[in-house]
Order: sequence, then structure tokens, then C-alpha cells
Amino acid sequence: MRRLPLVTVPDKLEKAGWLDPAAGWVARTVKAAVPWPAVRDLLHGVPLGHPLHPLMIVAPLGAWVSAAVLDVLPGNERAARTLVGMGVAAAGPTALAGAVDFSRLDTEQQRTGIVHEGANVLAVGLYSASWLLRGRGRTGLGKALAFTGLAATGVGGFLGGHLSYRQGAGVNRNDDFQVPSGWHSLGPVGAFASGVPQTARLGAVPLLVLKRTDGAADGAVSVLVNTCSHLGGPLHEGELREVKNELCIVCPWHGSTFSVESGEVLHGPATAPQPSFSTRIRDGLLEVSVKP
Ligand code: FES
Repeated sequence: MRRLPLVTVPDKLEKAGWLDPAAGWVARTVKAAVPWPAVRDLLHGVPLGHPLHPLMIVAPLGAWVSAAVLDVLPGNERAARTLVGMGVAAAGPTALAGAVDFSRLDTEQQRTGIVHEGANVLAVGLYSASWLLRGRGRTGLGKALAFTGLAATGVGGFLGGHLSYRQGAGVNRNDDFQVPSGWHSLGPVGAFASGVPQTARLGAVPLLVLKRTDGAADGAVSVLVNTCSHLGGPLHEGELREVKNELCIVCPWHGSTFSVESGEVLHGPATAPQPSFSTRIRDGLLEVSVKP
């Protein structure tokens, strides 16, 4: 089936380099405005295990759609205005969560993201004006602005869908990795240097191998999938760092921080853990088995 002409617009946005200065400025501003890792992790959705922003959208969108229904039924002016105001109030934290995610996307995703944000900022402005006008008795104009705001929200939602489902923002890059059960050899353990992240392959799956030299874990070997669950960065190029008493690997692309032992996310923007492996040494060979 042929796609609708409108549907090709986001494809063009992905290549619109003229959006880069604005996108870069917004990304830098958001990073500076939210410098606290714990707050960023919360807004990314690290405790949830997937992004928080899509969940929060329900609040403003639900309020505004409900207001639109009340606006076409007579006698609901007060309730409709309340819902418009609730939507505006809920849009702030929703936008903040989305902006924090946006600040850690790649260039093409940010081009779509900046127009998505622009449409939603326009919607919030229109709904804010609608709320004020309704309070001054100009209900007809307030309704008109609210319906225009709903249309802007629709454009923003359409672009948000493109960002997630076509461009893969917020998805787990390792969801489809496949390794047969049982133990698999990665070759002689002596072939891996100690204390620095090394690479190996298990079939098509790229691995990070770390022969531990830190404290109690001296002599142990930690193995993770090497593709960062956020946007696919090469973890072996990242920095080893101790975080919360755990040795971690910090992704070189956007700073996601994973325990090298368990693959758990210590800091986002990644929200999905890295698949990790049990390891053993048999006859001088390093063997791995995917953890359940
Ligand atoms: S690719 Fe973004 S943090 Fe790793």
C-alpha cells in the first residue's frame, strides 16, 4: 500500500541539517538545566526499565481530548476549562522528561525531536491562552484555540511516533539478541588482556570481555553484550569507573553506565540493562553462558 504524502514529511525532517543549530542549543540547555544524575535518571525512566515520557503523555493528552468532547456538548464550560488547565499543568513535567531524553539522541533523531517539541510547545501556548480567555468569558475563542492546540498536539504525537517506531528512540537495542543456551567457548583466556575492555563475538553477537583486576573480583571475567542498549554505542570504547561500589562501563556515546558484572543500568539515558553472561574457564578456554 502506498504511503500518504504527509507521511513522508518526517523522512525529510531526518535529513534537515538546518534544524541542527536549534536542536543543539535545546540539547545543551536541557543538559545544563538538569545537571543532577539522579533527577535525569528518574526523568529518563531508569527505575521503570523503559522511558518515562510516553507514560506521562497520557495526562495532558487525556485532559485535552476530554475537554474537546465537553466543548462540543453544551453546558460544560467550567469542566472543560478545568481540564484545559489540568492539561497545561501536566504538560510541564511531561515535556521535561521528553526533553531530557531528547538531549541524548543522535543527530537525525534530534531533527525530528525538535519539531516534535516545537509542535507541543505551540499546543501548550494555545491551551494556556484558551484557559485565560475562557476565564474572561471569551469561551468561543477559547474553544477555537483549544481545537487548534489539539491539532498541534496531533502533529507532535505523529512525529513522536516516527521518532520511536521509525527512528528507534527509546527502544532497547538488545531486545532481539539470540544466543543458544549452554556454554560457548570464546577461545583461550590468555588471549584477553587483563583490566581493559576487550571484544569477542559469539555468533553474530558482539561481546565486551573484561578480565577483572579489581579487588575481590581479581581473576574473574565479566562478559556483556557490547552494543549499548540505548542507541548501540560500542561499550568496549567506554571508560571503566566505580559507581556505587560497583565496577561499571560508561558508554562513550551518551554516558549510560552499566555494572560490568550484572549489566544493570546505574545511570541512563539507557533504561534497559545490558545482557550479561556467566563465565567459567575450562582447559584454558574462556566459556560463557547467557544469564537467565
Ligand atoms: S549509545 Fe547512548 S548511552 Fe550508549
